[in-house]
Amino acid sequence: VVEAYGQLAAEGWLLTRQGASTTVARLPTAGPPPPPAARGGEPAVDLRAGEPDPGGFPRGAWLAALRRVLATAPPEVLGYGDPRGRPELRAALAGYLTRARGVAADPGRIVVTSGFADGLARLAVVLRDQGVDTIAMEDPGQPLHRRIAAGEGLRVVPAQVDRDGVVVGELGQAGAALVTPAHQFPLGVPLAPARRTALLEWAARGGAIVVEDDYDGEFRYDRKPIGALQGLDPERVVYAGTASKTLAPATRLAWMVVPARLLEPLVEDRRHRVTTPALDQLVLAELLSSGAFDRHVRRMRSAYRRRRDALVAALAAEAPGHPVSGLAAGLHALVGLPRGVTEAAVAARAAEAGVALELLGPHWHGAPRHEGLLVGYGRPPAHAFRGALQALLAVLTGEKP
Ligand SMILES: Cc1ncc(COP(=O)(O)O)c(C=O)c1O
Repeated sequence: VVEAYGQLAAEGWLLTRQGASTTVARLPTAGPPPPPAARGGEPAVDLRAGEPDPGGFPRGAWLAALRRVLATAPPEVLGYGDPRGRPELRAALAGYLTRARGVAADPGRIVVTSGFADGLARLAVVLRDQGVDTIAMEDPGQPLHRRIAAGEGLRVVPAQVDRDGVVVGELGQAGAALVTPAHQFPLGVPLAPARRTALLEWAARGGAIVVEDDYDGEFRYDRKPIGALQGLDPERVVYAGTASKTLAPATRLAWMVVPARLLEPLVEDRRHRVTTPALDQLVLAELLSSGAFDRHVRRMRSAYRRRRDALVAALAAEAPGHPVSGLAAGLHALVGLPRGVTEAAVAARAAEAGVALELLGPHWHGAPRHEGLLVGYGRPPAHAFRGALQALLAVLTGEKP
């Protein structure tokens, strides 16, 4: 008992004074801090661009792969490991990228990152160290990527995009260019063959680096996907892929295949910040080498193709003032607006109806050249997709759903 009293007094729970009785300390009465205010909650209908259906995530295959990994991985897997990423994953990716995307992929040239966002940030640092001060980015393009590059000290300049993809003449003297050749984000056009050549010539002339963001290259619905640009000039093009569209953004698994001149500095940089969990890398390696990844992609490709077809058909039939442009590819469609209808007006109606969609506006570097909507058809659960489409049509036609 004496010991217990002594312990409680030492920890400040009891007050003991010579000649007085021991009392319970008066402690501040504030309870635990209130939980942060709940976010506005998920929208009733989520048609924001770019995320896959979480219901399609191959949970069973992931779990089976994780079990195999844990049962067989040698102890060294639990160390810091190679800063480029697990050799098993780099080997599996090299095979997959060569076969599926026409990438010249040597496992020694692959660097695994925590999403493309992480890869781009580290690439920006390395490019800056090599004397690059300006990166050209497509206009319109992904605003997050502009912020990332600028945050690492690069000057970001816009390069217009027309129906053939990025206008190469707009790249000017930039030391690097970030492009989305397979499916321009967000306009949805492919980089035309003549532009591919012109882009590589531009890079060769100025000693520049092209970063090929192949974010949704697996999802082409009207034909076999066009091979990666990187295969044409692996010493000037960084190929960047991600599992964010094929599996889920939460995996934070992505990869870059890099030219020799960038490899050592990138590896050195990653040595200081090994950020991509090794067990997850091994799971992806297992999915790739067992064929489960290919099966999953095939399944999702046909599901998204059906969704896109349904979207295009519904808009043509019931909202013909809203044309869909861009390739039959990826997880979003660019939807035009009839004359006199603004993004702001559609956004207000959509918010009122609980329909989340994205506007083209914020994707421009400066003043918008035209308006439009990015409708993501990946996210709604399969059973709710028809209802989501009806809600969208109601927003676009101004009817109450
Ligand atoms: C144009 C583009 N590229 C790449 C990505 C993938 O980024 P991450 O791998 O960081 O999820 C996205 C995600 O939205 C994107 O919009």
